[in-house]
Amino acid sequence: MKKYALVGAGNRALHMFAKPLTDELKDQAELVGVYDTNTHRAQQLSLQCRGVPVYNSFEEMLQRSGADEIIVASVDYTHDEYIIRALEAGLDVISEKPMTINHAKCNAILEAENRTGNKVTVTFNARFNPYTARIKELIKEGYVGDILSVHMEWMLDTSHGADYFRRWHRYLEKSGGLLVHKSTHHFDLINWWLEEEPLELRAFGSRRFYGPTREKRGERCLTCNYQKECEFYFDIREKDFHQNFYLEAEGFDGYYRDQCVFADDIDIYDTMSVNVLYSRGTQLSYSLTAHSPYEGWKVSINGTKGRLEASNTYNGANAKALHNEIKLFNRSGEEITIKLNKLEGSHGGSDYLLRRMLFVGDVPDRLGQMADSRAGALSLLIGDAANISIADNRSVKIGELLSFAHA
Ligand SMILES: NC(=O)c1ccc[n+]([C@@H]2O[C@H](COP(=O)([O-])OP(=O)(O)OC[C@H]3O[C@@H](n4cnc5c(N)ncnc54)[C@H](O)[C@@H]3O)[C@@H](O)[C@H]2O)c1
Repeated sequence: MKKYALVGAGNRALHMFAKPLTDELKDQAELVGVYDTNTHRAQQLSLQCRGVPVYNSFEEMLQRSGADEIIVASVDYTHDEYIIRALEAGLDVISEKPMTINHAKCNAILEAENRTGNKVTVTFNARFNPYTARIKELIKEGYVGDILSVHMEWMLDTSHGADYFRRWHRYLEKSGGLLVHKSTHHFDLINWWLEEEPLELRAFGSRRFYGPTREKRGERCLTCNYQKECEFYFDIREKDFHQNFYLEAEGFDGYYRDQCVFADDIDIYDTMSVNVLYSRGTQLSYSLTAHSPYEGWKVSINGTKGRLEASNTYNGANAKALHNEIKLFNRSGEEITIKLNKLEGSHGGSDYLLRRMLFVGDVPDRLGQMADSRAGALSLLIGDAANISIADNRSVKIGELLSFAHA
């Protein structure tokens, strides 16, 4: 049975990896260790996961746990360090998205992978949603013909979207901003659907909703004078998970899970748009809004044979619909509607399917859903290039950012 050790003991590490590996998958894979700079959090994870051993350093975990593979689920800007150290120790790596946050770190990962011969897999769970997978199939089956353009709009609401402005995600240097942290999923989906490489882009970004846009604000929700009137009030004591994993762990590293979304020092954008030119000439127009009244996405794909439209709403109107719908419009004036049953489970059932493919191998990879470092790189580099484009007010070529030639 293959042995895995985990870096990071936060929300994703617990729910996506540690709990399933020590419960539903315990006969197929073994979790042999966890390391997090916050030892309180690592111990809390261990308590909930059959006492998985907690290590005091990553080096110790590499040497003593007996792991065959390392899972990286720490904060984004730390991924590169653990990926490279694990590769150099002779181990393959499973990394949470984004693989890393900028091109310098990305180039270092690609170089280390090439030098060591060990492999990085990036867990793009969005590819495993049966809805996004069906879009891939329809494109492969030729329903839209050669793709000419894609339009994608992604909406984060003022619950989920706001949460990125409460903690580490709110600093470009820790998350790469939402164009890397969040959009890496979306750019990966598009890259995967198109099977084309992004060449060049121009982006815009602003922050006019969160950040210092109101006077009635505090340092954090827990001690804020405006708790009763602020619609963004987040009660860190309400759920045991937040209390145990974050509030009680604050003394170890000063990670406050409920900082004010109207703080001065937030430096990520809340409103973003990107235009990308791809290698076969496809044009992408993309936008990400982090303050939408409802959460979801819309995509339209225009091709030589017709047009595909899909949209998904996670809350608000339509969220409770039993089906997802894809609409196809062909050149004979026909409209075809495809209905897909919605699956239960986290991220639309995708996390479960991804774990089966990763740890059990009983789900065949017919559509190439398992993503490698190249996919990890190309999706994060669109976000990184977009950040550069916004900062320098210019177009950016993806080729400018890759110092390491990757096949
Ligand atoms: N695929 C998805 O759907 C999905 C969803 C959520 C999060 N994620 C990814 O999972 C990762 C973790 O996100 P999260 O929401 O669990 O965040 P989190 O803040 O809950 O957990 C992050 C953990 O990293 C730890 N950490 C910080 N610095 C570290 C360091 N130098 N070394 C080791 N550990 C360190 C923190 O102490 C914390 O326990 C991120 O990369 C995020 O992008 C993916």
